Amino acid sequence: MKTLLVTGGCGFIGSHFVRLVIQKKAWRVINLDKLTYAGNPENLDDIKNNSRYAFARGDITDPSFVGELFQKEKPWAVVNFAAESHVDRSIIDASPFLQTNVSGVQVLLDAARQHQVERFLQVSTDEIYGDADGKEPFQEEDPLKPSSPYAASKAAADLLCLAYRRTYELPLVITRSSNNYGPFQFPEKLVPLVIRNALNGDDLPVYGDGMQRRDWLYVEDNVRGIFKVMERGRIGSTYNLGTGEERTNLDVVQVLCDVIAQEANLDSAALRRRIRFIADRPGHDRRYALNFARARQELQWSPQLSFEAALRRTVCWYLDNQEWVKRVTSGEYLDYYKAVYTHTWGRARR
Ligand code: NAD
Ligand code: TYD
Repeated sequence: MKTLLVTGGCGFIGSHFVRLVIQKKAWRVINLDKLTYAGNPENLDDIKNNSRYAFARGDITDPSFVGELFQKEKPWAVVNFAAESHVDRSIIDASPFLQTNVSGVQVLLDAARQHQVERFLQVSTDEIYGDADGKEPFQEEDPLKPSSPYAASKAAADLLCLAYRRTYELPLVITRSSNNYGPFQFPEKLVPLVIRNALNGDDLPVYGDGMQRRDWLYVEDNVRGIFKVMERGRIGSTYNLGTGEERTNLDVVQVLCDVIAQEANLDSAALRRRIRFIADRPGHDRRYALNFARARQELQWSPQLSFEAALRRTVCWYLDNQEWVKRVTSGEYLDYYKAVYTHTWGRARR
């Protein structure tokens, strides 16, 4: 069986993708992950003993480690999830974003080229197109206008990948998805943060006026799309993966209050009263919107679960896994939380 190298497989989306590949018995997986604050081997506890799965702890920015791994494992293809992934952290300190998201990608691209892999899939994001306010939903060939240091680092990675495609004919494919949510997401992102705070009796922080709009994609739909692009995406192509449905952040938080109240037997109105409008994220994009006609037409991919059903599933998972939440939010998380919510943007607006 051929070996697939997945990087960042202990993170949120990567762990769902690894599980899908193992379930489908598609390829043997070697998961290369540094285990940063966001990487957690527990996310793959259910498949860790599978004979088609192996874990290698390491850093994608380390050329000798990466080179030796390619030499030993001889992967036929690479899927790169490894990244610093949180916009707010990139505003506090952009350095690790440039290291991992740009230099790390270059190390992977060079190894992939040297070892002549048959496919290199770069996992990218809709944030590289920039603010969609007042525009048509973005298409794959639209220009990149990233707003945050995170988005800029991901855009730089895409450009580097496309340059390797053109210069060295690297067999490249790119996916750009909208905002994901679902089980195992680190509680720094909006959905799990609100669930955690609601269950802890804390405030529910909404940046600015809460009228920013996002396209929310359930993580299992995203990894099914990534799998299809691995199987039969056209080499050299980019695929947007989204739902075409937009919601304001305030709406997401209010719906979350209702679902949490129903599932945890709490008072929804009391939860909604804990919503706090706090100072806005600097450079905050008002809207993200994606046109995913290419994935629909070429790959017959479309999201399967409704927002309401998938959000309920997500809330139930967090209710059933409160020990996981406690473990990942001890230590470093508390300092991060203070930095963003008390010191940096902690001033309540109303
Ligand atoms: P995550 O932060 O949950 O996981 C990132 C993983 O990468 C972690 O396991 C971490 O340990 C690992 N990692 C970080 N630096 C590394 C390094 N130098 N070497 C090896 N491993 C390293 O991220 P996620 O939300 O699962 O996102 C995965 C990918 O999808 C990222 O590339 C992100 O840009 C992209 N993406 C995410 C979203 C989203 O909504 N979360 C949306 C679109 C695209
Ligand atoms: P987030 O989950 O951080 O994802 P991204 O920045 O990659 O889109 O944020 C989603 C939206 O929710 C974004 O517009 C910022 C907003 N947000 C809040 O209003 N409050 C919060 O505490 C967080 C974490 C995000």
